[in-house]
Formats: sequence, C-alpha cells, structure tokens
Amino acid sequence: MAASREHFGRLGVILALAGSAIGLGNIWRFPYMVGEYGGAAFIIVYLAFSFLISLPAFVAESIIGRRARKSTYDALETLAPGTPWKWLGLVAVAGAFIITSFYSVVGGWSLDFLARSVVRGFDPVHPEEAAGIFGRMTASGIEPLLAHALFLGFNCMIIVLGVKKGIGRFSKICMPLLFVLIVAMMFFSLSLPGAQAGLDYLLTPDFSRLTPRGIACALGQSFFSMSIGMGVVLTYSSYMKKSQNILGTSVLTLVFDVMFAIIAGFVVMPAVFSAGLAPEAGPSLVFEGIPYIFAQMSASSPLLGRTVAVAFFLTILIAAITSEISMIEVSVSMLMERLGWTRRRATTAIFLAALLLGCWCSLRSGVFAFCDYVSSNWFMMLGALAFTVFVGWKMDRADVRDEFTNGGKLKLASALFPAFHFIIKYLLPPAILVIFLTNLL
Ligand code: PHE
Repeated sequence: MAASREHFGRLGVILALAGSAIGLGNIWRFPYMVGEYGGAAFIIVYLAFSFLISLPAFVAESIIGRRARKSTYDALETLAPGTPWKWLGLVAVAGAFIITSFYSVVGGWSLDFLARSVVRGFDPVHPEEAAGIFGRMTASGIEPLLAHALFLGFNCMIIVLGVKKGIGRFSKICMPLLFVLIVAMMFFSLSLPGAQAGLDYLLTPDFSRLTPRGIACALGQSFFSMSIGMGVVLTYSSYMKKSQNILGTSVLTLVFDVMFAIIAGFVVMPAVFSAGLAPEAGPSLVFEGIPYIFAQMSASSPLLGRTVAVAFFLTILIAAITSEISMIEVSVSMLMERLGWTRRRATTAIFLAALLLGCWCSLRSGVFAFCDYVSSNWFMMLGALAFTVFVGWKMDRADVRDEFTNGGKLKLASALFPAFHFIIKYLLPPAILVIFLTNLL
C-alpha cells in the first residue's frame, strides 16, 4: 500500500496545509475571541503561543505523518507497534470527526449568506433587519440543515477526487484567490466611517480583560487555527515527499495563518465598530454584524453593497471548504487504510455520519456549543499532547532528526534540531498540560 500512496506536489502541500489552517477559525472565531478577551492583549498572547508552542507542535505532528506515511491510527501503530499509542490516534480522529460535523453547519451558514447576497442582497431601508436574518435563519430549522448538507456534500466531492486532483488542485486555485479577497476586503473595511474605533480596539491592549481563561483560550485558538492535534497535519504530511523541508513548510503555514487572522481582524472589527455593534457579541458576530454594514452600504450604492457582500461570504466559504476537506480526509484515509475501503465508499460513510451529527448540532445550540467546546479544549489539547510526547519521548531521537533535517541535508534545520528536540521533550508537554488544566478549572 505504501508504494501506491498518493502524494502532493511541492507547492500543493504548502497550500493544502495553509488551506487547512486558514478557515472559519481565522475569520469567524478569531475576531470574536479578540472581542471577548481584551483586543490587542489577546492578540499578543496568541502570537506568542503560535510561535512558541503551536509551531513546534505542528512540526512534531508533521514528523510522525511523514515518517510513517500512514494515516493517524496506522501511523502510530507503525512507529510504535503493539503499543496503546494507536488508541490516542483514534481519539484524534474522533476529535477531527466532531469538528467536521459542527464546522459544516457554520460552512452551511456561509453558503446560505452567500446565496442570499447573490439573490437578494440586504435590505437598505431597514439595515437593522439584516442583523436579525441570522437568528431567523438558524431558528427556521430546515434552511440551515439543507445548507449544511449541501456544504458537506460539496466537500465530499472534492475528497472523492483524491489527494492531488481533489485537495491539491482545489487549494492551488483557491488559496491565492482567498488572499486577494481578504486584502481587498480589508482596504474596504478600513475606509468605512468610524473604522478608526475598530482599529483602536484591535491595537490597544486591555490586559484587565485577559483572564486566565482568556489565556487558555488563546492557546486553544492557536491550536484550532493551525489544525493541530487532530491528525490533519499528520495525514497531510503523510502525503509529503521526502525531499520537502518540514520546518520550512511549517513556518510558512504559520506565517500565512497568522497573517490571515490579523487581516481578518482588520476586516471584521472596523466594520463592527462602524455599525455601532458590540465586539463581544460572540459566535454570531460575523453573521449579524457584517450584514448590517452591507445593508447600510446598499442604501447609497446597491451594486457596491451587493458586490462586497458576495466577496465577503465567498471568502468565508472558500476558507471553510479548504479546512473542512482536511478534516474529512483524516477519517476517510483511516477508513481506507484500516478497512480496505475505496475512497468513494469511505467518503460516503463519513458524509452520512457527519450529516447526522451536524443536523443535531444545527437543531440544538447546546449540542453545537458542546461539540465546539469539547473538540477545541479537550480533544485538540489531548491530541497535541499525545503527538508531542510521542515525538519527544517515544520515537527514536535519530529518526526524529532524520525527518527534521532530511537525513542531515538541511543545514539550518540541523543546527536548530537540538533546540527543537529540547522544546518538544521538556517544554511543550508541561505547557500544554498547564493550559489544559486552566481551562478545566
Ligand atoms: N484550522 C481550521 C480553522 O482555522 C479549523 C480546523 C481545526 C481544521 C482542526 C482542521 C482541524 O478554521
């Protein structure tokens, strides 16, 4: 099986990893977390965690995947045969599956709002109406379910096409487009009247609002945003060529991801303040606040209002798709490898299962919040802890070194290796544990 394993092209793997990282986490979750936990204060901690903790954790997970060239469960079984490590791999896959389901519900909302923007736009006469659309849509029951099914179905179609032709090709087309869209949106948002207040909010740290819980959430957000601990990085890296530089790829992914989150903050916050809304609105921030702006804008120029709305929701939708497919691939690749299923059959099974759990999340906001909370605070932390301990303590140091430095060929990576190994072995596990416990209390 290993001989026939599919692989990404050189650029394909970077764009696919960046595609997985950049998602709703950046555009929808990051801004409301910044809003809840003290603006720039949260951003500073988030950045520090991203470079000090997430980056090494990402590299560690990537090393497991490329070393074993297997999906999550089998990778751990290959590298540590006959040990219980594989069960931790299964926990990661379960976490990825839970995210797949509720993420698809939010993906459905973006699809719904994109369709709305294309077909009707937002009513310029009663802009406050626009903020209520989200509530009515989610309360209607059937509409979000349909959108969720459509979104999930489209993602599964990409997965059926395979690693290179599906995931790789979609990422290559969409990631550049995504950057163009978000930068254009930023310029637009900054030019809104009252945008300055949003900028001030993003740039002024309010440390009194940065509670211990906020600090724990900053790490949770960083892991979520980098898709760490769920077997996504592991699975994608198992399709990576041996000649590719793991450290370089990881740094690039992190830089893209962080840049995108900050730019998204510059898109959402000025717009929120310009509309006079509260930045602490929580998960509905993007879907209630932003349509309000589009409606106001349509009063002076219907065409402009409509165009910007379409661009905005298209951005969210594409970002959501490139992340969703990475999560689906975790379960699909495991089913293919474990049970010998075809790609089509494995994808169909995951489609049906995620459809069901997603519908439940969509109909019960309590279930949705539970899945969101449990996956990003429990599963991700546990997964990240398991992968780092595995690389630091279980894997042979020489093997880790071999993957990190491509057999000693990479000079910079060779020089950095002792520091990397020290961090993975001694610093990351206690750091993740402390933050995990803070979150529990
Ligand atoms: N990183 C994605 C985002 O920011 C979410 C994600 C989490 C994707 C876990 C894969 C695994 O939206």
